[in-house]
Amino acid sequence: METIPLLKEKRIVLGITGGIAAYKACTLASHLTQAGARVDVVMTEAATRFVTPLTFEALTGRPAYTSMWRTSDEALPTHIAHVGLAHAADLLVIAPATANTMAKLAQGLADNLLSTLALAAQCPLLLAPAMDVGMWAHPATQANVAVLRERGAALAGPAQGRMASGLEGEGRLVEPDEILGHVRRVLGRDGPLAGRRVVVSAGPTEEPIDPVRFLSNPSSGRQGFALSQAAVDRGATVTLVTGPTHLETPVGFERVDVRTVEEMKEAVVEASETADALLMAAAVGDYAPTEVAAQKVKKRAEDLTLRLTRTPDILAAVAERRSKTDHPRFVVGFAAETEDLLENARKKLEAKSLDLVVANDVTAADAGFGTETNRVVLLSRDGESMELPLMSKSGVAERILDRVVGLLKET
Ligand code: CTP
Repeated sequence: METIPLLKEKRIVLGITGGIAAYKACTLASHLTQAGARVDVVMTEAATRFVTPLTFEALTGRPAYTSMWRTSDEALPTHIAHVGLAHAADLLVIAPATANTMAKLAQGLADNLLSTLALAAQCPLLLAPAMDVGMWAHPATQANVAVLRERGAALAGPAQGRMASGLEGEGRLVEPDEILGHVRRVLGRDGPLAGRRVVVSAGPTEEPIDPVRFLSNPSSGRQGFALSQAAVDRGATVTLVTGPTHLETPVGFERVDVRTVEEMKEAVVEASETADALLMAAAVGDYAPTEVAAQKVKKRAEDLTLRLTRTPDILAAVAERRSKTDHPRFVVGFAAETEDLLENARKKLEAKSLDLVVANDVTAADAGFGTETNRVVLLSRDGESMELPLMSKSGVAERILDRVVGLLKET
């Protein structure tokens, strides 16, 4: 797992309460630490029955706290452990959060280190509940959740599914990476794009030939998904319009699934009408079969000619609207090229009225379609160019969003 700039050096107190799902908090503690956060684990006595403080100390490289009265961190005097941790924290995450702990928090009780710390903390609170179906559905728990929400607590889950008891229903802890997504949403919400609307397109398009065949390309959608996440990390309200992909929807943005260029055009143009920025990362097909066969095309002659017709250019449609509505204020396009990278990219910048073009040599084995990494050059309208080294698609997304933040400031 790579570093997440939003989480770098952030102080996160991870509270763990007593439920069987406490084992999933190990993965969460590990991922938060790998992402660059400084994670202080605070466990209730019941939590230590399921997992040990040592597990977390090994995963976070920091002491895990279990008691108001003892601390293994000599730098932190016992009597102020709860105050010190609480005041230094950027975020308090409780995962899993039992019905009991949520009841204490709703009431303002302070009878162990975690509940005392929660009362002293001024940072945002994120709760990931985990409990039996009946306990979650109980009016007492629901009333406590309502109180906590009202006070500004964010909730991750619970999810629907099979419980340790064998029962099915709502009450399962959401998966660690989903909790991580909520952490990013909460930590990013006051970021430099707070109050801004960003539209991102991702993935390939598919043009049907007949009911069982289509024309498409190998785009995985990764670059567009990474751009969406980087925008959420900066506080933006994000709409992701995506062609068919296997990627899971990260937390915190609206996802619109489309298939054909025509569908993508409609969704992108509509979402862009009120947007501040459009990041057009989708690999849009340029041609579609002129006629779609109603039934499966049977093999007959030795060759088959497929007649194709140009698809509409989505960025051209956006540019036309933009000239009337002034939205989106900022448009980023991608130039997938196999030759004359910079020259072709610059032409696209002009022809498609872009503010920034991300030039992408798709012939490189480690860049472009279907890869984990990318190697791009950012060219902006003012003639500036920035060549980025080979990096992950998340890394590329971070750099693009930094440019978008800088350039949006000027508008
Ligand atoms: N694009 C678009 N609508 C299309 C085709 C492409 O909006 N019908 C967008 C892409 O999402 C990308 C940019 O235009 O942001 C450039 O896409 P690219 O495939 O590199 O260029 P094309 O316009 O298809 O031009 P060419 O095929 O000549 O390279």
